[in-house]
Amino acid sequence: MHDRSHQTVGRSIAHESAPLHVSGTALYTDDIPETHGTLHAAFGLSERAHARISLMNLDAVRKAPGVVAVITLADVPGQKYLGPFLNDEPVFADGVTEYLGQPLFAVAAISRDLARRAVKLASVDYDDLDRTLTVQEAAAREHYVLPPVRIRRGDIHAVLAQAPQRHQGEVRCGGQEQFYLEGQIAYAVPGENHEMHVHCSTQHPSEMQFMVAHVLQQPAHTVNVECRRMGGGFGGKESQSWPCATVAALLARRTGKPVKLRLDRDDDFLMTGKRHDFRSLYDVAYTDDGQILGIVFEHQLRCGYSADLSGPVADRQIFHTDNTYYLDTFDILSLRLKTNTQSNTAFRGFGGPQGILAIEYVIDDIAIRLGKDPLDVRKLNFYGRAERNVTPYAMTVEDNVIHELVDQLEASSDYRLRRAGIEQFNRGSRIVKKGLALVPVKFGISFTATHLNQAGALLHIYTDGSVLINHGGTEMGQGLNTKVAQVVAEELGLDIARVRVSAADTSKVSNTSATAASSGTDLNGKAAQDAAQKVKNALVAYAADHYGVAPSEVNFRSDRVFCGDKAMLDFAEFVQQAYNARVPLWSSGFYRTPKIHYDFKTLTGRPFYYFVYCAACSEVMIDTLTGESRLLRADILYDAGRSLNPAVDRGQIEGGFIQGAGWLTTEELWWDDAGRLMTHAPSTYKIPSISDCPPILNVQFFDNGNAEDNLHRSKAVGEPPLPAAISVLLAIRDAIRATAGPGVIPTLNAPATPERILEALASVSGSSAADARSAEESATQAGASVHETGEVVAGPVSSYE
Ligand code: MTE
Ligand code: MOS
Repeated sequence: MHDRSHQTVGRSIAHESAPLHVSGTALYTDDIPETHGTLHAAFGLSERAHARISLMNLDAVRKAPGVVAVITLADVPGQKYLGPFLNDEPVFADGVTEYLGQPLFAVAAISRDLARRAVKLASVDYDDLDRTLTVQEAAAREHYVLPPVRIRRGDIHAVLAQAPQRHQGEVRCGGQEQFYLEGQIAYAVPGENHEMHVHCSTQHPSEMQFMVAHVLQQPAHTVNVECRRMGGGFGGKESQSWPCATVAALLARRTGKPVKLRLDRDDDFLMTGKRHDFRSLYDVAYTDDGQILGIVFEHQLRCGYSADLSGPVADRQIFHTDNTYYLDTFDILSLRLKTNTQSNTAFRGFGGPQGILAIEYVIDDIAIRLGKDPLDVRKLNFYGRAERNVTPYAMTVEDNVIHELVDQLEASSDYRLRRAGIEQFNRGSRIVKKGLALVPVKFGISFTATHLNQAGALLHIYTDGSVLINHGGTEMGQGLNTKVAQVVAEELGLDIARVRVSAADTSKVSNTSATAASSGTDLNGKAAQDAAQKVKNALVAYAADHYGVAPSEVNFRSDRVFCGDKAMLDFAEFVQQAYNARVPLWSSGFYRTPKIHYDFKTLTGRPFYYFVYCAACSEVMIDTLTGESRLLRADILYDAGRSLNPAVDRGQIEGGFIQGAGWLTTEELWWDDAGRLMTHAPSTYKIPSISDCPPILNVQFFDNGNAEDNLHRSKAVGEPPLPAAISVLLAIRDAIRATAGPGVIPTLNAPATPERILEALASVSGSSAADARSAEESATQAGASVHETGEVVAGPVSSYE
């Protein structure tokens, strides 16, 4: 797979910060040496989910030991409402609190401990208002943060009415806390003449810069935001790094001192949004073989109290509801529901996993109902090559490799043999059951908002031959800086040790997009390559002229510059010479993704430059008495195009997959009836640990260059591995199915905690002798089940009849 003509690109080079990470010397925002006089801040949070604030007395807070300043919404000199999409979020609650955990005020004190103690002394009186907490309540009340969006094709009513097979159902899936190891943090250092320098753990320095400028009512050029690295972002720092960035800056302006604002883990959980939990209702028509003829979806997403990024997240759920399947006739409705909870936000996959989960669950239903292997039903519905290849959003799938990829994984994972073995195991095992599932993924790469698909870079070659590159992306552990350094080293024929990537900094590259949508390398790598090529072009012109050779005879290779047979110089010697000849040794670079366009009104166009394909085959074991589950083996086949760095990509694939398995099995967010998030610390919220990784985890790359002219024909790798973990959920469902009679569809909502697994087992228990007739009955009953908070919710939608 490795292209021999490349020196650096395509090689498994260690993460540029690996030695710093493992030796504890990598600087995160909290490790930056503090300037003399630094103050520490803390937020005072709302104790009610939805209430009018009748009185907020902060006298005791002001008088508390060590307190230097206290600010509320009235103290914001500039814009008081912010947001990445709509300006619908007040910096501090504006007379009404919209969720339990919303910031009411903030304090700066001489130590973090004193600041955190002081905020507890506030005296706040609330008049409770009617609260909406769940998707069910919000859907019933039609509470939306943004209007519903619907896309349709064909005559769904006719297709549903005439279909040989049809059923309805619903699936529910919980949210997910980003649980970045480094929590939200900003450190604001005031400068002369209103300048403000903010160190911030953020995926989006430019947005932080603008928001700080807006709240301070200053031009953007007075604000500089810097991020060396994050200890993880996972989407949670795409927009929601702003409360820390703006409030640290507001307090720094107020006090004239540097202010650090680092959230306590519990406050981080309580304040910030998570992955959108959702409920999807469906009505599906299909042939006797299982080919989908028509499908109706109503996706109900819990957005929380404000819009944040929920619009584009919900759009991406729609864009991934097809996954790898051709949907001929469909009616997809997406509800963006408003609740009095944290404002849900980006999380690895950005709505994509939610869309994929919905369709995969339905495909699974169909297979169970028809008594077929789900893999066969999947294949029957795959996008075709020349026909059946237009997505619901009217984009033609041109780079489809899902047939070959799935065939390869089916063979390498021994799917059929293991399927037979598991059936046999289950016949002989009464209590413990095994399950198997192979789930494909197609993931669209690009920001759906076309204008965000641009990036810049700034490259310097110093006369000692060392190279410094700055680009618009941020490093959150994913290896972006390593890949960018590889690309630049490749272009200049240098060893990677000569190239250093500096911290993201809004004063070096401006108006950057968030590092998100898995496109960090695609965009910034291309911009860096462009900058390197520009400097190189100037150097080639100089060398050709100086040594009297053709430009094509000037080559940069192995830290040297070859000028035909006239000269061979060390790179450092050569650039010193070029400098003396007054050749510019630095350049900016720019990239904009070609071919993409998209109409927000009709939800059609080509929102994605290309697709990433992957698939995972997971085998699980469940204990039908305790509801416990275990992932025994996972095989993942991933299409990284021509991987820029297989070692880094493997890390992303393994990490993304396991993070997805956590979402669907152990990570449970639970709010009480008052809207208090009860799972707000690692003590009550369980992310996967090393012991949750399966003993067998095979990751392989699918040999395939990107059909598009993406960076060195590579493909993105950040998010697509996550939804491959839907195979874990469906393997658990397969094990539950093994306890039921033929055709009986188990209801398994996610996360599949032991409680949910026991619930699912109960939903099919006593059905093992059932015939097809009673199977249909239990499928219908499965639609009306007991929700986690205890109320019985409505069954399948009938409004589409
Ligand atoms: N990997 C690590 N180690 N830490 C992270 O925070 N974020 C993920 C993914 N991989 C993340 C990660 C998310 S949500 C995205 S969008 C991509 O990385 C962003 O980086 P990229 O575009 O450079 O792949
Ligand atoms: Mo990733 S959810 O696009 O930050």
